[in-house]
Amino acid sequence: MTRQSRLLAIDQGTTSTRSLVFDAEGRLIASAQREFPQYYPQAGWVDHDPEDIWRDAIETAREAIAKSDAPITAIGLANQRETVVVWDRATGAPIHRAIVWQDRRTASECERLRDEGAEALVRARTGLLLDPYFSATKLAWILDNVSNARQQAERGQLAFGTIDSFLLWRLTLGQVHATDATNASRTLLFDIHRQCWDDELLALFRIPHGLLPSVQDSSHFYGATIAELFGAPIPIAGVAGDQHAAMVGQACFKPGMVKSTYGTGCFALRNTGAEPASPRGGTLTTMAYRIEGVPTYASEGAIFIAGAAIKWLRDRLGLISDAAETSEIAAKLPGNHGVYMVPAFVGLGAPHWDPHARGLLCGLTLDSSAAHIVRAALESVAYQTFDLMEAMTGDGSLQAQGKSALRIDGGMAANDWFCQFLADILDAPVERPIMLEITAHGAAFLAGLSTGVYPNLAAISNVWARGARFEPRMAHAERERLIEGWRDAVRRALSSGG
Ligand code: G3P
Repeated sequence: MTRQSRLLAIDQGTTSTRSLVFDAEGRLIASAQREFPQYYPQAGWVDHDPEDIWRDAIETAREAIAKSDAPITAIGLANQRETVVVWDRATGAPIHRAIVWQDRRTASECERLRDEGAEALVRARTGLLLDPYFSATKLAWILDNVSNARQQAERGQLAFGTIDSFLLWRLTLGQVHATDATNASRTLLFDIHRQCWDDELLALFRIPHGLLPSVQDSSHFYGATIAELFGAPIPIAGVAGDQHAAMVGQACFKPGMVKSTYGTGCFALRNTGAEPASPRGGTLTTMAYRIEGVPTYASEGAIFIAGAAIKWLRDRLGLISDAAETSEIAAKLPGNHGVYMVPAFVGLGAPHWDPHARGLLCGLTLDSSAAHIVRAALESVAYQTFDLMEAMTGDGSLQAQGKSALRIDGGMAANDWFCQFLADILDAPVERPIMLEITAHGAAFLAGLSTGVYPNLAAISNVWARGARFEPRMAHAERERLIEGWRDAVRRALSSGG
């Protein structure tokens, strides 16, 4: 391990772009962050401007590099997954705003394909479901709705990528059009068993092959940044979708290990080893990571709104001025007073997969207060995590997987009240690492692995350090009562009426 190694992670998330410099021992040396605009052109639609993303990636990277105490050895990228960018190969200019993973505009197209019986093929090849969450129908929407796009795509003039590919292209001035296996596995176009783009799926979603990036390992030398960007070329040596980077950052390298990341949404991934588990309930089968050509698989439960519910309390309702206030507000209440929030603002993900479900607050009485709404938002994230665990294991218990604790990270992991409530609802210990910047750390680890900073995964496991552990302590009957109240609220939020 080189003592002076410095690894730069660019973590391009749904609401902010961050750049962080780590040393080989896992200490955070420097960081920079920018929030960027979200566009909601219609109800249920969500766009990003790829130029905002590019500008913030470069500016935050430059700022973090300037604050670093030593030169950068390598860059790792972690990114919001599924979000689609299509750009002109000649100019590098996007032909449309990025359509974000949360966007539901292709819900009816997914329903049409499901009615035609396409879901079994999709599930078998990709481990996913026919849901607008994933990239393929969003990509087809751009080709169908931007003038001449389909013809240009068929002539090979356009490139498609998730955010990682777009950044790679820009960082290398068009020399590299690539993605990693984890990002590819979220498109609905990638066969996770054969580890390649799938011609039948490309035909199903009407996607020309010439748009696609090459698919590489998550830990891999992708190319070097052009010298003009940072003064000297820097190798880009790791790429992973943010949830997969978090698996690496949490050192979930053994089958059965589970992590849950609380960013905009919440994504729980359980390492299933060298074999993809058959998807059960509403869970997905996905990649954990691919290293030295060897795929490691995971089961995933995806919920779309976690931290976004807290942001909504702050930005739309004005109930709090800072997310950090929520811990104390919730702790001051003796209970939830029967108030539940189902934050189905963009439909519901796992295990319900209902794009038409909408958000709901229920159980309100004249003595309900803002504090109850704040607490209901926090509680909703714990209940949704419980639903994910239940879908993965059949009974909600982590112990059923021979796994003693859930490793958590992301913004809400800093909230002690939430961590304790989560442990109580899961009836399992919850562990929080010292380093909460786990997604970025995972990207840095991947870059460090391919550049010799870390010789192997065991060296990465040694860097992971536990910060806190929350033991379940809620009485069984209370837990059952709360979960029943949640289930009732979810039934009301579902578009079918439950
Ligand atoms: O699948 C979407 C996910 O990658 C977004 O992550 O951290 O931006 O909520 P985050």
